[in-house]
Amino acid sequence: MEQKSIKEVHTELMMHSVKFAKDEQGRRKQQQVLFKWAEVEKKLGEHKHIYVVDARLGSNNHTHRLWYDVIPPHTEEGQEWKTLGHRHTVEAIIYFLKGRGHSIIDGVRYDWGPGDLLSVPMFSWHRHINDTDEPVLRIASTTGPLSLALGQAVYEDERYPEFWIYAQEGEEARKTLIPGGGGQLNNGKAQNRAAELYAEEVAFAMKEEQLRRASKVLVKQKDLVFEPTAMGNVAYVVDPRIGFHSKALGVVMAEIPPGKRSGAHRHLYDEIDLVIGGRGKIIVADEEYDFGTLDVLSIPVFQWHQYFNTGTEPLRILAINTRLALDNLGLSLTHQGEHADYV
Ligand SMILES: [Fe+2]
Ligand SMILES: [Fe+2]
Repeated sequence: MEQKSIKEVHTELMMHSVKFAKDEQGRRKQQQVLFKWAEVEKKLGEHKHIYVVDARLGSNNHTHRLWYDVIPPHTEEGQEWKTLGHRHTVEAIIYFLKGRGHSIIDGVRYDWGPGDLLSVPMFSWHRHINDTDEPVLRIASTTGPLSLALGQAVYEDERYPEFWIYAQEGEEARKTLIPGGGGQLNNGKAQNRAAELYAEEVAFAMKEEQLRRASKVLVKQKDLVFEPTAMGNVAYVVDPRIGFHSKALGVVMAEIPPGKRSGAHRHLYDEIDLVIGGRGKIIVADEEYDFGTLDVLSIPVFQWHQYFNTGTEPLRILAINTRLALDNLGLSLTHQGEHADYV
């Protein structure tokens, strides 16, 4: 094979950066938007854990993914788990569709049922238990793809201790919500500004752990408050401004009455929407898609999108997005188009 010259190799690398954004626009336009529940249900008949929106399956979603999962009656997700369960350096949202049970998250019990949602704090040990005779159906979304891209994805699972990175380092390492454990410089008063700044860096992880432990975790459906916005009636579900220590994943729920439409907008964050009630139509970058309850929609980055309720029931959409991750990178941008026609 012909060897490329140094000039050719490095010109190609430079052009890769220059061309990327335009190429990415093309990939966004081609990505699959609608994932039908009927298809997912069929697959769940064969295996209880089905990835739906996932870059490993061809999705263009770079920052989060979504899967469906069934926990059989009176069992525990990952039945061999005894006490710890598992923990990971990704943020996770779990939304329960059917069934009842409870979760143990860092030693605290949370009881849940249909319509409830968990925001699992970073690196907390957790496990989920079905308490009834019916299967539990849930969806979950995590920032796995983002953590993998950063080279910081750690999944420690009680069933597979041979893959532990930190938990084998003793009892103390198992109690912390900081991968590798937190540390503090305790030199009394810092002697100069640089020493003070550096001490703050060392103390950051410990402070972060305190904030994670103080974070809200469980959201009950009945506690959601819908209020009018340019996009329509919206309830904020998970957001740092309402008591969650979330850095990457945010959640809102939107409700659109029969015959009405949401606002239109576009943004730089990834958004995966679960239809939790009703039926409707969405326009995404000039394409129309008809959907029903339990279908999933993956909204491509920076493409205009707008929902229409074409049914007779209220249309309810659970939108899980990575706006917070983009905010923290200084990259958030949201353009508002047409406003909702019912607020
Ligand atoms: Fe988990
Ligand atoms: Fe959106």
